[in-house]
Amino acid sequence: MAKTHKDTLIEWLQEAHAFAKHGETMLSGRADALEGDYPELAARMSEHVSETQAHQKEIADLLADLGGDVSKAKDIGGKVSAVGHSWGTQMTGETAVQSVAASIAFEHFEVANYRALITTAEAADEGQAKATLESLVADDVAMAKWLEDNLVDATKQYLGAEA
Ligand SMILES: [Fe+2]
Repeated sequence: MAKTHKDTLIEWLQEAHAFAKHGETMLSGRADALEGDYPELAARMSEHVSETQAHQKEIADLLADLGGDVSKAKDIGGKVSAVGHSWGTQMTGETAVQSVAASIAFEHFEVANYRALITTAEAADEGQAKATLESLVADDVAMAKWLEDNLVDATKQYLGAEA
């Protein structure tokens, strides 16, 4: 049987679930590392950890509605973290500036994936999935923008502490 747009939607939602999980792990690690010296960055990252947890729940609900297997999303975690590695994985000893830069890259990666998913949901005629994905992508767009807006201040603070 030929693969339908809905099959693709389910498959990509399973990957998106695993990416969100990966993002949650990275962000909580960074929030902990930045808490002492960069409380505002840490607070915004922690807030996005909660948003990312909510995303996982919404994606899991969507998968259940579409008849997809949520547990499969967990199985592909290894594959996803290999891909996600190039997109902002936390490095030991990274500076606050590197944390922000890598997080910006990861948020844009999520945004791109969600936008491809929105197009796929539209092609599959899955209106509810499309609406849900549009609300999810807004959180990642906002997070990317916040990080970009705060990169200069974080860099200045880093340079000031170094001087
Ligand atoms: Fe995100």
